[in-house]
Amino acid sequence: MCYIKGEAIQKATLLALFLNCQSHYFRSPELKPVLRSDYQPPAFWIDEVTLEFDLSPRGTLVTASLSLRRNDDRPNLPLELVGEKLDLKSIAIDGTQLAPDRYEIADGNLVIRDVPDAFNLQTQVSIDPVDNKSLYGLYQSSGNYCTQCEAMGFRRITYFLDRPDVLARYTVTLRADPISCPVMLSNGNRIAERTLDDGRREVVWQDPFPKPSYLFALVAGDLRCHPGKFVTCGGREVQLEIWVEPENIDCCEHALRSLQKSMLWDEQTFGLEYDLDIYMIVAVNDFNMGAMENKGLNVFNSKYVLASPETATDDDYLHVEAVIAHEYFHNWTGNRVTCRDWFQLTLKEGLTVFRDQQFTADQTSAAVKRIDDVVTLRSRQWPEDAGPMAHPIRPESYISMDNFYTATVYDKGAEIIRIYHTLLGADGFRRGMDLYFERHDGDAVTCDDFRAAMADANNMSFELLDRWYSQPGTPTLTVSSTWDDELNQFHLEFAQSYPSLSNEIPGATGRKPVPIPIDMGLIAPDGKSLPIVLSDGQTAQRIDGNSAVLLLDTETSSYTFTGMTERPTASVLRGLSAPVALQMERSNEELAFLMAHDGDSFNRWDAGQTLATNLILKLADCVK
Ligand code: SER
Ligand code: ZN
Repeated sequence: MCYIKGEAIQKATLLALFLNCQSHYFRSPELKPVLRSDYQPPAFWIDEVTLEFDLSPRGTLVTASLSLRRNDDRPNLPLELVGEKLDLKSIAIDGTQLAPDRYEIADGNLVIRDVPDAFNLQTQVSIDPVDNKSLYGLYQSSGNYCTQCEAMGFRRITYFLDRPDVLARYTVTLRADPISCPVMLSNGNRIAERTLDDGRREVVWQDPFPKPSYLFALVAGDLRCHPGKFVTCGGREVQLEIWVEPENIDCCEHALRSLQKSMLWDEQTFGLEYDLDIYMIVAVNDFNMGAMENKGLNVFNSKYVLASPETATDDDYLHVEAVIAHEYFHNWTGNRVTCRDWFQLTLKEGLTVFRDQQFTADQTSAAVKRIDDVVTLRSRQWPEDAGPMAHPIRPESYISMDNFYTATVYDKGAEIIRIYHTLLGADGFRRGMDLYFERHDGDAVTCDDFRAAMADANNMSFELLDRWYSQPGTPTLTVSSTWDDELNQFHLEFAQSYPSLSNEIPGATGRKPVPIPIDMGLIAPDGKSLPIVLSDGQTAQRIDGNSAVLLLDTETSSYTFTGMTERPTASVLRGLSAPVALQMERSNEELAFLMAHDGDSFNRWDAGQTLATNLILKLADCVK
């Protein structure tokens, strides 16, 4: 699980996703899809969780106490807690041990039929961190204990309602031998520490913010700290700690600075202030993928933390900064407001990728960053969207959620967030974000809630945007232009369509036109950009002097531009203002002209790419 950008998707993942999408071919009782339409709120809520870990490589004891409360909307249901690879040692309700006939364990899950409306459940399980080669749940690797719980790893730690809409406050006690585990970390603030009679150390952590189980984290081992500080806009001093293996302690300064920059940027751009007194990042060598935004205790693959001038390239430095920012930004878009169910993954990932893209654009060159992101989108997401694994950014079903950490959910998801930003401008987008947090801080919500906040904050309707969430495939935008010599008018015709996908892919049939913002400008023959003047009765979403955003939300539409005396050259889809493939007849002369004069750096680059491709193909033709 992870921030997958730039990561090769593992073959196993590809295969599993393929099976997922093709599940109708391979139906078997084990491969039962979970459907988005089947969502039901949980039958119980969990308010408080206390966890005690007696850490031991082959037999860690996890003692859990959960304060449970029946959800009045779903009466008369038994308590069903999920668990995987857990060895149950004891179980009690309100301090009374349960006889074996009071509960059952079915398919690994714990079912208790007769329970009060509110009660405390205590369980003790034994788990084997060394044997845990999946790297989900609690595992030990290179001598250190580490967890990864997104999406469904927490069920490998204790019996739980392991779903993102169950938010609880956690207090976590860690006990271990101080020689092998001098450092013991978990979410929130460290509230107590002592040496036990048997010589072991005990550390207690408390996270005051309710969180879903996928944000739980524990790290213990022989680690060193690279410390720093950040003073928030509210004047609070936050302790920053980068934890690494001893030999890496000299490679952390860039990560620390990246974190400080991210914290400042989120305050300045979105008014979002960090909320705990401490923020920790742990770098581990053995980690499934990129990094993980556990509350107050991020866990990273060390390649996204460690950087030193002797070994790291410029790109490495940029990646570290971007991934640190990405995980930090999740504190608000993901943690404070989280997903109601896993179908909503793009709610937090698309939005957070978009935020990290904007951050990098502000720190470096916006044009170069946009070019980089579009190269990634076109080379990784577009093939995914055109093949047998195509899926909408908000899938309708899954067999294994772990397979949906895809370029589509992340990178196309970020493009859809960019559409709101393009339509609303930075101020309108900020108004939408403010309303989103005002309405949903502390909640588990859906992509529809985000869309509603963006729309309501700006008195707009974004109903048609829903199609971007439910339709797979990359639309094609076909553009043609004509010049009326008599009236001195320039016409642009737009048409959108979807290339066909296999009918077996959910959502592939009956796709409707999507709202496509077309950022554009017109360039006079002398290379100067022209003011945008639309003929009477035509409106743009936005006009900003020499550039405009047109909105195509039907199959076709056309626009007429006036106020010029010679045929201009159109620059359309500036900055790739929507994740669509542009089809437009342009001569090499026109492309060379755009490459020289387009006011949009991205389109200047793109024209150069198309021109170069045309020339290479022409040369190749000559060889035949
Ligand atoms: N949520 C983590 C990330 O994207 C891992 O999936 O950074
Ligand atoms: Zn993420």
